[in-house]
Amino acid sequence: MSLDLNANYTNSALRVGDVDPYPQRRVGEFIGIVVSNEGVNDEYKHVVLKVHEHALKAYAGQMFHLLCPSPDGGEVWMRRPMSVYRVDKAAGQIEFLYKTEGRGTRGMGTLKPGDEFNIAGPLGNGFKLDPTWKNIVVLGRGVGLATLAPVSQLAAEQDVGVTAILSARHAGVVMSKELFEGVGARVITVLDTDGSSDVENVEKILRQLIADGKADAFFTCGSNRLLKLMKKLGKEHNIPGQVAMEQIMVCGFGACYVCMRTFEVDGKFVLKRVCRDGPVFNMQEAVGW
Ligand SMILES: Cc1cc2nc3c(=O)[nH]c(=O)nc-3n(C[C@H](O)[C@H](O)[C@H](O)COP(=O)(O)OP(=O)(O)OC[C@H]3O[C@@H](n4cnc5c(N)ncnc54)[C@H](O)[C@@H]3O)c2cc1C
Ligand code: FES
Repeated sequence: MSLDLNANYTNSALRVGDVDPYPQRRVGEFIGIVVSNEGVNDEYKHVVLKVHEHALKAYAGQMFHLLCPSPDGGEVWMRRPMSVYRVDKAAGQIEFLYKTEGRGTRGMGTLKPGDEFNIAGPLGNGFKLDPTWKNIVVLGRGVGLATLAPVSQLAAEQDVGVTAILSARHAGVVMSKELFEGVGARVITVLDTDGSSDVENVEKILRQLIADGKADAFFTCGSNRLLKLMKKLGKEHNIPGQVAMEQIMVCGFGACYVCMRTFEVDGKFVLKRVCRDGPVFNMQEAVGW
């Protein structure tokens, strides 16, 4: 079996500068070139890829399916789903923020500037902003913050105010603070170490934001308890919300039904595919993890 990375690529994968034979299609396979791949703390790394312009159509909450290199010479079966962290159209770059979990993400950690990296996407339905919203609240934890970070960019582009509540185990793993601040978001950090991340305290913060008229919509990812809290307050105050769900995936485009989750729609429990129907869903329909 060949372990040459190129042996994994199909002929349709587009490299930077290639003529796109199907510019109208939503999804493509791309061979990006690694610009940088640096650690941001003990657990997370940030990879920047130069990609074909078609891949830059990705928007907040959408994902790519990544063909991760092997960390140890053995085959890494199947692609890994990863949310878009940032799309830099001017530089022609796409960025991912990732936590090293298993063999796929360990393999990603071995990528060096100049390496090729095969990504397929953009996949799924991402976050949407209603033009009537003036202020939104983004609440995330852990790797969920990587998924939520581009919402703040989207909001900044549309002149929508953002309060971002970043929850983390300790100050060393608070993620994306600079990215949120860089686009003008008001950032509130809550930590396990000082108890400020307790649901009761986060509820107090959210209730104050609602009272101050700063919560036209809620966005969350990365924590079941925070989802439940936002869902409760959203229902109580009639505030619309969106949640990005995570689920183990195989195909990533709706064919295998591995990523099914239960949702509650109009009082009935229904199954939906996280990859194709989501990964972003109406918060009130999400049943939780
Ligand atoms: C829509 C979506 C967006 C995501 N965005 C990010 C992101 O921006 N940054 C990031 O660090 N991680 C993200 N994840 C989680 C990421 O896909 C997993 O951490 C990764 O697949 C783990 O692969 P691994 O080989 O390193 O670990 P392994 O544990 O060896 O993975 C084995 C299998 O489990 C699956 N898997 C493991 N953990 C998860 C998980 N939490 N969610 C879904 N599948 C999982 C993988 O797809 C893989 O097939 C996202 C997941 C989904 C579904
Ligand atoms: S991963 Fe195959 S249907 Fe969602």
